[in-house]
Amino acid sequence: MGEYGSETYGDKIAGVYDEWFDAPEDTETTVDFLRELGGAGPVLELGIGTGRIALPLGRKGVEVHGIDASEAMVEKLRSKPGGESVPVTLGDFAEVGVEGRFSLVYVVFNTFFALLSQEDQVRCFASVARHLGAGGAFVVEAFVPDLSRFTFGQTPQTRHVGTDEVVIEYSRHDPVRQRVDSQNVAIREDGARLYPVSLRYAWPSELDLMARLAGLTLRERYGGWNRQPFIQASETHISVYEKIGPEAPIR
Ligand SMILES: C[S@@+](CC[C@H](N)C(=O)[O-])C[C@H]1O[C@@H](n2cnc3c(N)ncnc32)[C@H](O)[C@@H]1O
Repeated sequence: MGEYGSETYGDKIAGVYDEWFDAPEDTETTVDFLRELGGAGPVLELGIGTGRIALPLGRKGVEVHGIDASEAMVEKLRSKPGGESVPVTLGDFAEVGVEGRFSLVYVVFNTFFALLSQEDQVRCFASVARHLGAGGAFVVEAFVPDLSRFTFGQTPQTRHVGTDEVVIEYSRHDPVRQRVDSQNVAIREDGARLYPVSLRYAWPSELDLMARLAGLTLRERYGGWNRQPFIQASETHISVYEKIGPEAPIR
């Protein structure tokens, strides 16, 4: 996908993101889980977006900071009650370019896979490890890759059918680079809009290896935010990593 940068997904989807994905009943268990792990904070969200998770977490008394590459997404966050005061660094979370240490760093909703190379994903783990305080945790929510979605390395998949709109996802899969390039095409009476997204997926075992390279180890893994067991049929995982050794200096 030419000209696709770390800001592209957010810049294109910011206008419809909350309408498509913000369902408060789904976020409650996520927020409770993160609150329990992070305490009063400070905590850091990688790819904070429109604040779908960060704002309700902040309302529970947690000091939430964020990083995001898309100004359009951060503008949406800023326009919401409480959004103005959340410290957000604009940039790429492959390198966690923020000061200080955090009781919790988290990246949810498959956002870790927005880093499009193994090298960037490894760099991100290492950077997170340097920003975790004593006893701190790194939480990753991600899908378990399901290659049976693709026929001859591609899909169309109907995402949404409404009276005034249909959303179809067209994807191509590259198993060598573990990469999926997609366009969500929203067709309405007044025309079509394109919402591109590229991902580099990894299996849980590869994430665990990246964690070990960074001096982190898997503390817990669940199949959902309600701490459901992670089993063969799990479509998603919540992985909690912690530091193996003593605190390293921030570099
Ligand atoms: C799927 S959204 C998730 C937003 C929010 N975490 C949530 O759960 O609703 C992914 C977010 O990550 C941001 N993002 C994607 N790649 C990024 C990168 N390399 N560095 C920083 N932010 C990135 C996007 O701009 C977008 O806001």
